[in-house]
Amino acid sequence: MNNLLPNLTKFLASSGVASRRKAAELIKEGAVTVNGTMITDPSHKIGPDDVVRYQDRIVKKLEHTYVLLNKPTGYITSKGDEHARHIVFDLLPKNLQTGLFPVGRLDRDTTGLLLITNDGDLALRLSHPRYSVAKVYCATLREALTPLDMEKLRKGVRLRDGFIKPDRIAIVARSRGYQVIVHLHSGKKHVVRRIFAHLEYHVTELDRVGYAGLSKRGLPCGQWRFLSSAEIDMLKNYHLRKPAQTAAPHRIKSNKTNKNINLGF
Ligand code: URA
Repeated sequence: MNNLLPNLTKFLASSGVASRRKAAELIKEGAVTVNGTMITDPSHKIGPDDVVRYQDRIVKKLEHTYVLLNKPTGYITSKGDEHARHIVFDLLPKNLQTGLFPVGRLDRDTTGLLLITNDGDLALRLSHPRYSVAKVYCATLREALTPLDMEKLRKGVRLRDGFIKPDRIAIVARSRGYQVIVHLHSGKKHVVRRIFAHLEYHVTELDRVGYAGLSKRGLPCGQWRFLSSAEIDMLKNYHLRKPAQTAAPHRIKSNKTNKNINLGF
Protein backbone atom coordinates (compact mmCIF):
# COMPACT_ATOMS: atom_id res chain seq x y z
CA MET A 1 0.00 0.00 0.00
CA ASN A 2 2.82 2.33 1.02
CA ASN A 3 4.36 1.71 -2.40
CA LEU A 4 1.43 3.45 -4.04
CA LEU A 5 2.09 6.69 -2.17
CA PRO A 6 4.18 9.33 -3.92
CA ASN A 7 7.55 10.14 -2.45
CA LEU A 8 8.34 13.67 -1.35
CA THR A 9 10.31 14.45 -4.52
CA LYS A 10 7.48 13.39 -6.79
CA PHE A 11 4.93 15.17 -4.64
CA LEU A 12 6.82 18.48 -4.90
CA ALA A 13 7.44 18.04 -8.62
CA SER A 14 3.84 17.17 -9.42
CA SER A 15 2.68 20.13 -7.33
CA GLY A 16 4.64 22.45 -9.57
CA VAL A 17 7.24 23.47 -6.93
CA ALA A 18 10.26 22.40 -9.00
CA SER A 19 11.52 19.74 -11.37
CA ARG A 20 12.21 16.37 -9.77
CA ARG A 21 15.94 16.96 -9.66
CA LYS A 22 15.58 20.42 -8.13
CA ALA A 23 12.95 19.13 -5.67
CA ALA A 24 15.33 16.41 -4.48
CA GLU A 25 18.02 19.07 -3.92
CA LEU A 26 15.61 21.27 -1.95
CA ILE A 27 14.68 18.32 0.27
CA LYS A 28 18.33 17.43 0.93
CA GLU A 29 19.04 21.07 1.79
CA GLY A 30 16.37 20.87 4.49
CA ALA A 31 14.00 23.34 2.84
CA VAL A 32 10.93 21.11 3.21
CA THR A 33 8.93 20.01 6.24
CA VAL A 34 6.30 17.30 6.58
CA ASN A 35 3.86 17.77 9.48
CA GLY A 36 6.23 20.31 10.98
CA THR A 37 9.35 18.10 10.85
CA MET A 38 12.23 18.75 8.48
CA ILE A 39 12.60 15.81 6.08
CA THR A 40 15.84 15.45 4.15
CA ASP A 41 15.11 12.07 2.56
CA PRO A 42 13.80 12.60 -1.02
CA SER A 43 12.17 9.14 -0.99
CA HIS A 44 10.07 9.84 2.12
CA LYS A 45 6.50 8.70 1.39
CA ILE A 46 3.68 11.24 1.54
CA GLY A 47 0.25 10.09 2.72
CA PRO A 48 -3.06 11.83 1.95
CA ASP A 49 -3.17 13.60 5.36
CA ASP A 50 0.43 14.77 5.46
CA VAL A 51 1.01 18.54 5.42
CA VAL A 52 4.02 19.47 3.30
CA ARG A 53 5.53 22.95 3.63
CA TYR A 54 8.11 24.67 1.44
CA GLN A 55 9.20 28.24 2.21
CA ASP A 56 6.58 28.31 4.99
CA ARG A 57 3.75 27.70 2.53
CA ILE A 58 1.61 24.59 2.41
CA VAL A 59 2.23 22.73 -0.83
CA LYS A 60 -1.07 21.65 -2.35
CA LYS A 61 -1.41 18.71 -4.67
CA LEU A 62 -1.83 20.17 -8.14
CA GLU A 63 -4.98 19.23 -10.01
CA HIS A 64 -3.93 18.06 -13.43
CA THR A 65 -5.50 19.57 -16.51
CA TYR A 66 -5.56 17.88 -19.92
CA VAL A 67 -6.56 19.89 -22.97
CA LEU A 68 -6.81 18.69 -26.54
CA LEU A 69 -6.46 21.44 -29.15
CA ASN A 70 -7.09 21.20 -32.87
CA LYS A 71 -4.35 23.62 -33.84
CA PRO A 72 -4.84 25.88 -36.86
CA THR A 73 -1.93 27.04 -39.04
CA GLY A 74 0.01 30.15 -38.02
CA TYR A 75 0.40 29.23 -34.32
CA ILE A 76 3.62 28.05 -32.73
CA THR A 77 3.73 25.43 -29.98
CA SER A 78 5.73 27.55 -27.59
CA LYS A 79 5.05 29.19 -24.22
CA GLY A 80 6.06 32.63 -25.40
CA ASP A 81 7.52 34.22 -28.46
CA GLU A 82 9.86 37.19 -28.54
CA HIS A 83 8.88 37.85 -32.16
CA ALA A 84 5.25 38.32 -31.04
CA ARG A 85 3.97 35.52 -33.25
CA HIS A 86 0.75 33.73 -32.37
CA ILE A 87 1.19 30.95 -29.83
CA VAL A 88 -1.17 28.04 -29.21
CA PHE A 89 -2.02 29.43 -25.76
CA ASP A 90 -3.70 32.41 -27.46
CA LEU A 91 -6.42 29.90 -28.43
CA LEU A 92 -7.15 28.93 -24.82
CA PRO A 93 -9.08 30.88 -22.17
CA LYS A 94 -7.00 33.01 -19.77
CA ASN A 95 -7.19 30.50 -16.89
CA LEU A 96 -5.54 27.84 -19.08
CA GLN A 97 -2.78 30.06 -20.40
CA THR A 98 -0.39 29.64 -17.49
CA GLY A 99 1.04 26.51 -15.92
CA LEU A 100 0.26 24.29 -18.92
CA PHE A 101 2.62 23.22 -21.68
CA PRO A 102 2.27 21.40 -25.00
CA VAL A 103 3.32 17.75 -25.22
CA GLY A 104 5.75 17.62 -28.11
CA ARG A 105 5.50 20.10 -30.95
CA LEU A 106 3.83 20.82 -34.22
CA ASP A 107 5.29 23.09 -36.89
CA ARG A 108 3.73 26.51 -37.22
CA ASP A 109 2.09 25.48 -40.47
CA THR A 110 0.93 22.08 -39.25
CA THR A 111 -2.66 21.75 -38.11
CA GLY A 112 -4.26 19.15 -35.88
CA LEU A 113 -4.06 17.45 -32.54
CA LEU A 114 -1.96 18.91 -29.78
CA LEU A 115 -2.14 17.76 -26.19
CA ILE A 116 -1.61 20.50 -23.59
CA THR A 117 -1.27 19.70 -19.90
CA ASN A 118 0.43 20.47 -16.60
CA ASP A 119 1.06 16.77 -15.93
CA GLY A 120 4.83 16.71 -16.31
CA ASP A 121 5.11 12.97 -15.69
CA LEU A 122 2.63 12.09 -18.39
CA ALA A 123 4.13 14.60 -20.81
CA LEU A 124 7.58 13.15 -20.25
CA ARG A 125 6.36 9.61 -20.84
CA LEU A 126 4.37 10.47 -23.96
CA SER A 127 7.25 12.34 -25.53
CA HIS A 128 9.87 9.76 -24.60
CA PRO A 129 10.97 7.65 -27.61
CA ARG A 130 10.74 4.50 -25.43
CA TYR A 131 6.93 4.79 -25.26
CA SER A 132 6.76 5.73 -28.93
CA VAL A 133 3.35 7.31 -29.19
CA ALA A 134 1.42 6.55 -32.39
CA LYS A 135 0.71 9.57 -34.56
CA VAL A 136 -1.35 9.81 -37.71
CA TYR A 137 -0.78 12.61 -40.23
CA CYS A 138 -2.65 13.60 -43.34
CA ALA A 139 -0.12 15.17 -45.72
CA THR A 140 -1.25 17.02 -48.83
CA LEU A 141 1.39 16.88 -51.55
CA ARG A 142 1.91 19.22 -54.46
CA GLU A 143 2.16 16.27 -56.81
CA ALA A 144 0.93 12.67 -56.78
CA LEU A 145 3.01 10.08 -54.99
CA THR A 146 4.17 7.47 -57.51
CA PRO A 147 3.73 3.78 -56.67
CA LEU A 148 7.53 3.43 -56.68
CA ASP A 149 7.99 6.22 -54.11
CA MET A 150 5.12 4.82 -52.07
CA GLU A 151 7.02 1.55 -51.93
CA LYS A 152 10.23 3.37 -50.93
CA LEU A 153 8.36 5.09 -48.11
CA ARG A 154 6.84 1.81 -46.96
CA LYS A 155 10.31 0.31 -46.72
CA GLY A 156 11.58 3.37 -44.86
CA VAL A 157 13.94 6.21 -45.69
CA ARG A 158 17.28 7.20 -44.21
CA LEU A 159 17.29 10.82 -43.03
CA ARG A 160 20.37 12.61 -41.70
CA ASP A 161 19.31 11.83 -38.11
CA GLY A 162 18.21 8.23 -38.55
CA PHE A 163 16.11 5.70 -40.39
CA ILE A 164 12.34 6.37 -40.50
CA LYS A 165 9.89 3.66 -41.43
CA PRO A 166 6.23 4.63 -41.26
CA ASP A 167 3.96 2.00 -39.69
CA ARG A 168 1.45 2.43 -42.44
CA ILE A 169 0.88 4.64 -45.49
CA ALA A 170 -2.30 5.08 -47.48
CA ILE A 171 -3.34 7.33 -50.34
CA VAL A 172 -6.61 9.16 -49.87
CA ALA A 173 -9.12 9.37 -52.74
CA ARG A 174 -7.63 11.39 -55.64
CA SER A 175 -10.64 13.76 -55.72
CA ARG A 176 -9.35 15.39 -52.54
CA GLY A 177 -5.92 16.30 -53.91
CA TYR A 178 -2.77 14.33 -53.38
CA GLN A 179 -3.34 13.38 -49.80
CA VAL A 180 -1.40 10.67 -48.04
CA ILE A 181 -2.10 9.28 -44.58
CA VAL A 182 1.06 8.47 -42.68
CA HIS A 183 1.11 6.50 -39.44
CA LEU A 184 4.33 6.71 -37.51
CA HIS A 185 5.81 6.73 -34.04
CA SER A 186 8.74 9.07 -34.59
CA GLY A 187 8.62 12.44 -32.85
CA LYS A 188 11.59 13.87 -34.73
CA LYS A 189 11.40 17.50 -35.78
CA HIS A 190 9.69 18.08 -39.17
CA VAL A 191 9.77 14.32 -39.72
CA VAL A 192 6.80 14.08 -42.09
CA ARG A 193 7.90 17.01 -44.26
CA ARG A 194 11.41 15.58 -44.31
CA ILE A 195 10.49 12.06 -45.39
CA PHE A 196 8.58 13.52 -48.33
CA ALA A 197 11.32 16.06 -49.10
CA HIS A 198 13.77 13.13 -49.16
CA LEU A 199 11.79 11.78 -52.13
CA GLU A 200 11.47 15.29 -53.60
CA TYR A 201 7.84 15.92 -52.74
CA HIS A 202 6.62 19.15 -51.25
CA VAL A 203 4.03 18.97 -48.46
CA THR A 204 1.60 21.86 -48.90
CA GLU A 205 -0.58 21.00 -45.89
CA LEU A 206 0.02 18.79 -42.91
CA ASP A 207 -2.66 17.80 -40.43
CA ARG A 208 -2.17 15.59 -37.37
CA VAL A 209 -5.38 13.60 -37.27
CA GLY A 210 -4.50 11.06 -34.60
CA TYR A 211 -2.33 11.23 -31.50
CA ALA A 212 -1.86 8.42 -28.97
CA GLY A 213 -5.30 7.04 -29.76
CA LEU A 214 -7.01 10.47 -29.43
CA SER A 215 -9.06 11.66 -32.35
CA LYS A 216 -10.21 15.01 -33.77
CA ARG A 217 -13.78 13.83 -34.09
CA GLY A 218 -16.16 16.65 -33.14
CA LEU A 219 -13.31 19.11 -32.55
CA PRO A 220 -13.25 21.82 -35.24
CA CYS A 221 -10.00 23.50 -36.23
CA GLY A 222 -9.04 26.19 -33.69
CA GLN A 223 -11.20 24.65 -30.94
CA TRP A 224 -10.16 22.83 -27.78
CA ARG A 225 -11.76 20.54 -25.23
CA PHE A 226 -10.83 18.85 -21.97
CA LEU A 227 -9.98 15.17 -22.19
CA SER A 228 -12.53 12.79 -20.70
CA SER A 229 -11.46 10.69 -17.72
CA ALA A 230 -11.50 7.61 -19.98
CA GLU A 231 -9.06 9.35 -22.33
CA ILE A 232 -6.82 10.38 -19.42
CA ASP A 233 -6.76 6.79 -18.15
CA MET A 234 -6.01 5.58 -21.65
CA LEU A 235 -3.01 7.94 -21.90
CA LYS A 236 -1.72 7.02 -18.46
CA ASN A 237 -1.79 3.35 -19.47
CA TYR A 238 -0.56 4.03 -22.96
CA HIS A 239 2.67 2.11 -22.50
CA LEU A 240 0.63 -1.04 -21.76
CA ARG A 241 -1.17 -0.93 -25.11
CA LYS A 242 -0.46 -3.25 -27.97
CA PRO A 243 0.52 -1.53 -31.25
CA ALA A 244 -2.74 -2.59 -32.91
CA GLN A 245 -4.72 -0.61 -30.33
CA THR A 246 -2.94 2.64 -31.08
CA ALA A 247 -4.67 3.32 -34.38
CA ALA A 248 -6.73 6.46 -34.88
CA PRO A 249 -10.40 6.17 -35.86
CA HIS A 250 -10.99 5.11 -39.42
CA ARG A 251 -12.55 8.38 -40.54
CA ILE A 252 -11.66 11.93 -39.61
CA LYS A 253 -12.60 15.38 -40.82
CA SER A 254 -10.07 17.38 -42.79
CA ASN A 255 -9.32 20.80 -41.26
CA LYS A 256 -9.31 22.38 -44.71
CA THR A 257 -12.25 20.81 -46.49
CA ASN A 258 -14.27 19.79 -43.43
CA LYS A 259 -15.00 16.55 -45.29
CA ASN A 260 -14.59 13.05 -43.97
CA ILE A 261 -11.30 11.44 -44.91
CA ASN A 262 -10.87 7.72 -44.99
CA LEU A 263 -7.71 6.88 -43.08
CA GLY A 264 -7.03 3.94 -45.32
CA PHE A 265 -7.36 0.98 -42.99
N1 URA B 1 6.19 16.29 -38.94
C1 URA B 1 6.38 17.48 -39.53
O1 URA B 1 7.03 17.58 -40.56
N2 URA B 1 5.81 18.56 -38.95
C2 URA B 1 5.08 18.49 -37.82
O2 URA B 1 4.58 19.51 -37.35
C3 URA B 1 4.89 17.24 -37.24
C4 URA B 1 5.47 16.15 -37.82
